[in-house]
Amino acid sequence: MIGNSNDDFTLSVKDVTKRFGRGKQQFTAVNKISLEATTDSAIGVIGESGSGKSTLARMIVGFEKPTEGTITINGLPLEQWMANPTDLLEYRRIVQYVAQDTSSSFDPKKKMGESIAAPIRKLLKIHDKDEIVQRTETIVSELGLDVALCSRYPRQLSGGQRQRFALARSLVVSPKLLICDEVVSALDVSVQGAVLNLIKKESAKRGIGLVFISHGLPATAFISSDLMVMKQGDVVEAGSVQEVIEHPRHEYTRALLHAYSYGQSSSEQVLSEQSQGSNPSSKELGNELV
Ligand SMILES: Nc1ncnc2c1ncn2[C@@H]1O[C@H](COP(=O)(O)OP(=O)(O)OP(=O)(O)O)[C@@H](O)[C@H]1O
Ligand SMILES: [Mg+2]
Repeated sequence: MIGNSNDDFTLSVKDVTKRFGRGKQQFTAVNKISLEATTDSAIGVIGESGSGKSTLARMIVGFEKPTEGTITINGLPLEQWMANPTDLLEYRRIVQYVAQDTSSSFDPKKKMGESIAAPIRKLLKIHDKDEIVQRTETIVSELGLDVALCSRYPRQLSGGQRQRFALARSLVVSPKLLICDEVVSALDVSVQGAVLNLIKKESAKRGIGLVFISHGLPATAFISSDLMVMKQGDVVEAGSVQEVIEHPRHEYTRALLHAYSYGQSSSEQVLSEQSQGSNPSSKELGNELV
């Protein structure tokens, strides 16, 4: 087994490119992107549909192979983590991915409690039944869910409840990095704020680094300390939330801010929400930015 992943954690993405297709059909979905994340990071990735956000996330979790560039965790290349089953399981434990579409991310034939128990068994290698039940119930209640919901099937839950279960399933293995890909976009505006608060609070409390991918600027700025703005596979702007919002350099970032501002002082509004820890209002979250 490589390294001791309970120690410090650093993800380093260096000049990573992903091209799909061949010849004239070839297309660059992600173009030479670099980023670094630790357990203290909260990186927001924002950009229009098709800008390469999910492809970037999928490369970090190992679902897609970069065409060029390197991804390392604690200095060790991803391929090395993937090279044998033990290290791969450890990688899956420390880097967790929560996708937007929770309806297909749970086995329809498994009760919710069983879906939470599976990674406890597989990734934490805990097989004592009582301990599995206790850990499942603890995480489920910590995420504000009624424990009784554990005996329901995915289709018997609301989108907001399923999204919380998806977070519970990731948090239960104590990851070092949580990648949230459009986790609130599919939710009703009335529950978006609650889920955002939960992600922010739980990641800070548990010392988990966050990569938060979204179309929506208010939600992303609320959760993140740094922002990366993507357009057509490129990072067109990156920096602290404050820097990017107060001094947007790229026309596309300015357009995002303008769409959010309704003609008011957008940067002040976004930054005050971020510093006060209040979640963006429904009106702001409901405003599709791109
Ligand atoms: N497996 C694939 N094969 C070919 N093209 C792909 C593949 N996966 C993604 N793409 C293309 O790469 C581009 C980036 O896709 P990606 O899903 O990363 O965008 P995104 O920023 O996550 O968009 P959205 O906000 O809609 O989720 C898109 O043009 C998409 O069609
Ligand atoms: Mg996507």
